Amino acid sequence: RTYRIASIPGDGIGVEVIEQTVKVLRTMEDLFGSFTLDIDMLDWSSDRYLEKGEYIPADAWPKLRASDAILFGAVGSPDVPDDISLWDLILPLRKKLNQYINLRPIRILPGVSSPLRSCTSSDLDWMIVRENSEGEYAGQGGTTHDDTAQTIATEVAIFTRLGIERTMRFAFDIARDRPRKKLTMVTKSNAQRHGMVLWDKIFYEVAKEYPDVETDKMLVDAMTVRMVLKPQTLDTIVATNLHGDILSDLAAALAGSIGVAASSNLDPTRQNPSMFEPIHGSAPDIAGQGIANPIGTFWSAAEMLRWLGEEGAADLLMKAMETVTASGTKTRDVGGTCNLAQVTEAVIAELEQL
Ligand code: NAI
Ligand code: MG
Repeated sequence: RTYRIASIPGDGIGVEVIEQTVKVLRTMEDLFGSFTLDIDMLDWSSDRYLEKGEYIPADAWPKLRASDAILFGAVGSPDVPDDISLWDLILPLRKKLNQYINLRPIRILPGVSSPLRSCTSSDLDWMIVRENSEGEYAGQGGTTHDDTAQTIATEVAIFTRLGIERTMRFAFDIARDRPRKKLTMVTKSNAQRHGMVLWDKIFYEVAKEYPDVETDKMLVDAMTVRMVLKPQTLDTIVATNLHGDILSDLAAALAGSIGVAASSNLDPTRQNPSMFEPIHGSAPDIAGQGIANPIGTFWSAAEMLRWLGEEGAADLLMKAMETVTASGTKTRDVGGTCNLAQVTEAVIAELEQL
């Protein structure tokens, strides 16, 4: 069958990693023969914004909604304020397409080492479930635009029972399907006494429906310490939009590099396309040098194939990727000397042999 993929490379290294990922996907298509990918490359970038005043064309939504999945690179440019690039591109996609779960698998790939001494792949194997539609990224608040010593800005987090409950159920379902059946919930309900307290309450309510899942609760500050000092005590983690964002960058760094981490923005109802992207940004510090790690985007593409129902293709891509990292063909961020094209060529060669 044919899958319609909307691809948004975006800015900086987003463009570089998507270019390589499309090469890998084309190889998968040839190898399998059982599916084709109709990839629509969209130029929704900061350059487009600077030229036309918009990231997403106003009439683009019906076609986007009709696609089967979205493959995203990264957005962010030194020439556009980051709150504009985020709020005009990535956040509308997540919000309008009801992608209320951001799923981030974190593990130490073969041949990649953790900055934590003696931390091995059996110590660090997590699944982070980040709430992706509300919370601290609700966009509510304002500023008294007087720009004086009295200026006040508010940033109001919005938490709804509906939003929390569906996230909890999703997280419990994930935890139940993993071997350790363990879910850790993160909040800051000692200092933030409304929304975070509601999170705690709903967590324990939903937990009653999942007696086979072991649960525990952490405050986010203590959670950072536990992730570093006792990684082996964690498995599935559920957190708010902001906490999940921060903890998953830490998690990715503990697993070797932010460049190897993948994420899925899911609409679990499947009424809208889900979106797959590496967790990193556009990395202007290394953009244009061809040295970005493409592994996080390859992994995201594997998760996209899995979501589309192409399990076999997803597993094969993961296997090829892991064989390549194990062999030492790696970019600099994970201690190698290769550029991104060399890593891509190695993954393609591996795919052709498997
Ligand atoms: P970043 O993730 O772009 O970079 C952080 C550090 O990690 C940099 O030193 C970078 O060189 C390195 N890095 C990131 N990805 C890498 C890769 N694949 N291979 C090797 N090294 C890699 O985060 P930063 O610097 O805070 O943000 C840069 C821009 O990206 C900003 O405009 C920000 O708003 C945007 N951003 C966009 C995201 C998205 O599109 N979903 C997510 C995070 C940031
Ligand atoms: Mg982030």
